[in-house]
Amino acid sequence: MSDNTIRLSRSVIGEEEKKAVLDVLDRQYLGMGQDVLYFEQELATYFAREAVCVNTGTAALHLALQALGVGPGDEVLVQSLTYVASFQAISATGARPVPCDIDPDTITLNVDDAKKRITEHTRVVMPVHYASSVGPLDEIYEFAQDNDLRVVEDAAQAFGTYYNDKKVGSFGDIACFSFDGIKNITSGEGGAVVTDDKEVLQRVKDARLLGVEKDTEKRYSGDRSWDFDVSMQGWRYHMSNVMAAIGIEQFKKFPIFAEKRKELLKRYQSNLANINSIELLKQDANQIVPHIFVIKLKNYDRNTLRKMLEDVGIPTGIHYKPNHKLSYYDTGVELPCTDTVAKEILTLPLHPELQISDVDHICEMLKQCLGI
Ligand SMILES: Cc1ncc(COP(=O)(O)O)c(C=O)c1O
Repeated sequence: MSDNTIRLSRSVIGEEEKKAVLDVLDRQYLGMGQDVLYFEQELATYFAREAVCVNTGTAALHLALQALGVGPGDEVLVQSLTYVASFQAISATGARPVPCDIDPDTITLNVDDAKKRITEHTRVVMPVHYASSVGPLDEIYEFAQDNDLRVVEDAAQAFGTYYNDKKVGSFGDIACFSFDGIKNITSGEGGAVVTDDKEVLQRVKDARLLGVEKDTEKRYSGDRSWDFDVSMQGWRYHMSNVMAAIGIEQFKKFPIFAEKRKELLKRYQSNLANINSIELLKQDANQIVPHIFVIKLKNYDRNTLRKMLEDVGIPTGIHYKPNHKLSYYDTGVELPCTDTVAKEILTLPLHPELQISDVDHICEMLKQCLGI
């Protein structure tokens, strides 16, 4: 299918991924085996530390937290303005997500606000790399160290992003990535936990296979555990060979995808600089690989603008409704910055198949709608 429709985001799949999937189908070993092992090895080389693949980014976060022993009675500090997956992963352990405010320039965790919300139950701080931007991670790690907290980075949107010239996931405590259909690379659905902590790695490996001890090692040697023990709650969260086959091909293409995403971000930034009703996020296109492109709309009705853009064939999104406004997570807390920014954010199209001319057209239409 080829048309001129502008899409907000999309998967970018070529003949290579199709062939790789067919190859797995032909081999008739669809479950977790050599392809997953190979994908993990590629990721381990990329991050220079071990990676364990699972079936979603949400599962990666859930298992990372569980592996740290987070459970009922515990609290995890996390920004409210994130995908509900961050919150669901925390509450899946039985722990309570504690919604924190954001820094309005980057929409990442406001460390000063997080500091105010620490209690004797706090175990983990979860910075979210919103729109692939990394907040003041050094400060977050310092805060964690001072208070004996673990750090689980929600890096779902930040595959390939750098922080102070260091690749996200290659340093720090634990980073969790997502490979869902529209992320910087995809394995159809998928995710990974990346860390140096050997105990966490082993627990995640076992927990993704229903808690069956050392089943990963068996499967990677072409075997299966028949006489096994289970000593923890596990889940059916492993990645399949079909998924890994897609991921392996996407990973090969990542340098091209990354370059294109950066180029599009730069074009948006130059086209939309110095416009009164638009505020851009602080994003360094030389450091990040943008998953989404979000602007803040000042003094203009967002719904009206969205409708006008939709009428000229330009889809937009809202990433996200803050979690403290969802009935399951509403504690009545007030987060002034989050509440303001949540009303302003608007996501414009971004994916590797979008052309520079599309970005120019989108920006032109946007300006026309705003009467500029
Ligand atoms: C910030 C954030 N966290 C977590 C996730 C969860 O990833 P997945 O969709 O692979 O479960 C996503 C994915 O959209 C995300 O954007």
